[in-house]
Amino acid sequence: MSRESFLRDGWTGFGPDPCLVDWLAHVRPLALAVRDDSRLQRDWLRCQGTWFVGVNALQNDGAGRVADSGPLLGAAMRFIRQDLGFGSRPLDRAQVSICYPGYPRPSPDESDASFRFRKQFDAAHVDGLHPVGPERRRKLLEFSGFLLGMPLTRANREAAPLVVWQGSHRIIGRALRRALGDIPPADWPRVDLTEVYHAARRASFRDCPRVVVHARVGEAYVLHRMTLHGIAPWGENARSEPAGRAILYFRPEIDRKGWLVEDWT
Ligand SMILES: [Fe+2]
Repeated sequence: MSRESFLRDGWTGFGPDPCLVDWLAHVRPLALAVRDDSRLQRDWLRCQGTWFVGVNALQNDGAGRVADSGPLLGAAMRFIRQDLGFGSRPLDRAQVSICYPGYPRPSPDESDASFRFRKQFDAAHVDGLHPVGPERRRKLLEFSGFLLGMPLTRANREAAPLVVWQGSHRIIGRALRRALGDIPPADWPRVDLTEVYHAARRASFRDCPRVVVHARVGEAYVLHRMTLHGIAPWGENARSEPAGRAILYFRPEIDRKGWLVEDWT
């Protein structure tokens, strides 16, 4: 069931999972502690302190073990390893993304246009398509297989949730396959995808519903690697634990050749 909805919608959710609750009991204090590391703060505190980005901040191994925790198991991992064919490949180090009341405020290095896009369009993006140089030309520089998200703290659905444009993976995928299908994977990072990406993003805004993906601690969700997604602003009725709205994300890279294919089989 999950696989069908994943391929149709570009994401799928997993209900409360005792395996995950157990794992989080070990991992949560270690994950939240990264926020207090002054070096990591310098690197990752953005939007005037309303967002700790925390990319690869968690010190987990490839099986998801942190300190004396067990490996990361459960329904979402089973889905990734078996249904999506990730197999026994190792996980990357998880991102610890924490939003606070008031997110987003403008960063000094952020243009007015970027800030407006963050506020009005949730800084919607596809992972791996980076803006490069002063012209912000879009290049495909990272090749993550999927995005696995797991809340670390209790927060309601107004507290800067993840949002997805449901079904956008099909629009983005079609556009990228057209642009890159005949080019050797080794050359993809050199291809300027700006116009292709912007057109596909516009079509996704027009044709795909914006869906708030909210989960409780012990639940999880998996996004297709081409799904357009972002973070909604902290809402007027947002509530979270004092630690903020914290979510762990795994985003391990896969073989470049397999990145562009339509299906997972
Ligand atoms: Fe992302």
